[in-house]
Amino acid sequence: MEEIIRFDDVKKSYGEKTIIENFNLSIEKGEFLTIIGSSGCGKTTILKMINGLIEPEYGNIFIKNRNINEENIIDLRRNIGYAIQGGVLFPHMTIEENISYVPNLLNKKNKEKTKEAVKKWISIVGLEEDMLERYPDELSGGQQQRVGIARALAASPDILLMDEPFGAVDEITRGQLQEEILDIHNRTGITIVFVTHDIAEAVKLGTKVLVMNEGKIEQYSSPKEMLKNPNTDFVKALVSRERKFCNLSEEEECKYSNAN
Ligand SMILES: Nc1ncnc2c1ncn2[C@@H]1O[C@H](COP(=O)(O)OP(=O)(O)OP(=O)(O)O)[C@@H](O)[C@H]1O
Ligand SMILES: [Mg+2]
Repeated sequence: MEEIIRFDDVKKSYGEKTIIENFNLSIEKGEFLTIIGSSGCGKTTILKMINGLIEPEYGNIFIKNRNINEENIIDLRRNIGYAIQGGVLFPHMTIEENISYVPNLLNKKNKEKTKEAVKKWISIVGLEEDMLERYPDELSGGQQQRVGIARALAASPDILLMDEPFGAVDEITRGQLQEEILDIHNRTGITIVFVTHDIAEAVKLGTKVLVMNEGKIEQYSSPKEMLKNPNTDFVKALVSRERKFCNLSEEEECKYSNAN
């Protein structure tokens, strides 16, 4: 197995408050990692450290064995797609311009190649080509969400960071987007780091789940292992909440998480 992201003894505080400390994590290439934990426990902080939006005050982060501290931050970000919840599109640009923003920077000379890429991604996220001419406020929330994902994917990054990307959409759209992102992961082999509040979503999507509480790792395992052997009381509570919610027996649930 090949490691793609590593946190090495990372610390980050804001003022007096330490958010994470002695944080170590190794993520393998091609993994679909879901991160779940209580609000304010540091999930977004961890995600933003991967693309250099937040710098650790201590420790190091490596991508493909290179310390991101010593890398050109723009080059780093081109290789890392970032999709966040709600309102992330450029409002004054059409959908086509939004999606082609990064590819245009990358292959300035080859406009045709970018056009093809935009068409490909818009269809992969399940939207019609005739939407390309519209502006973000002429799309529904769920459609905008899909454009955000297409934009994050359009530069063909090796790593895709997603921060509660399906939080703002209804259940049906959410289910469809989940299927699409699973399909994209299967087809491209991209490494995904996906933050969610929803334990069912974490189990459904993840090849690995990271459970966090107050900046500490409670469990880092396959979803199946987490459901079978929750490491701590915190994880136990999380798992039992999800079981009640979905009305599943342990056996049914393992089957469900095995379907990935
Ligand atoms: N710029 C900042 N200045 C001060 N405190 C901050 C700053 N950014 C984040 N924090 C604090 O750091 C902690 C971790 O924030 P973070 O955004 O990583 O949480 P999270 O796990 O993503 O939470 P949520 O699930 O609510 O999105 C929170 O207590 C937050 O208030
Ligand atoms: Mg967050």
